[in-house]
Amino acid sequence: MPTPIQAYVFDAYGTLFDVASPVQRHAATLGAKAQTLATVWRDRQLQYTWLRSLQGRYVDFEQVTADALDHALEHIGAADPDLRGRLLQAYATPRCYDEVGTTLRALRGRGLRTAILSNGTARWLDAAIHANGLDDCFDAVLSVDALQVFKPHPSVYRCAETALGLPAAAISFQSSNGWDACSAQAYGMRAVWCNRTGQTPERLSAPPARVVSRLDELLDMA
Ligand code: LAC
Repeated sequence: MPTPIQAYVFDAYGTLFDVASPVQRHAATLGAKAQTLATVWRDRQLQYTWLRSLQGRYVDFEQVTADALDHALEHIGAADPDLRGRLLQAYATPRCYDEVGTTLRALRGRGLRTAILSNGTARWLDAAIHANGLDDCFDAVLSVDALQVFKPHPSVYRCAETALGLPAAAISFQSSNGWDACSAQAYGMRAVWCNRTGQTPERLSAPPARVVSRLDELLDMA
């Protein structure tokens, strides 16, 4: 018998919150280069988290995001301090996907616990939760900042076990980042990959137990 799932733990950026939304807010200023900026910014942001963890040179997610933005703005030839400030400010309050609030409240209504486990700083996560009216939706908001290392270091997934007082097998971990879902599954959680945009599966040790295209599909499983 599989261990019954008692908690749903969510990645934040890309899973609950739309990481393209800060750039979309400034699409008129950026024009045709908006999409390139969004892609290079996110790609570099993730790469810098992995590289800094390997280097043993942690700086928090706000700094990594600012460094990645500086790279991306220079890449598109738009290194403007005012635009940089506005984009970073927008990143602190990204828009959540439409189904997030209803899904979280429905899971909680069934007696399941819910949490965030994210690379984000507590300050940014709190701001994003508050801006989207999700203040009543989580038992715990867990940031890697306490560990000074980014995903997918195993200590990050262990942090959710410790904080919730549950074994990994009793935790369902949701991420739209394929590499994050594979890493949680390899750690021993039941991972659900929220593949919103039809991405090609990663080849990384442990494929996620389930694939959904929207988070409200979780309600058919819970
Ligand atoms: C996070 C990044 C990986 O929220 O999206 O941890």
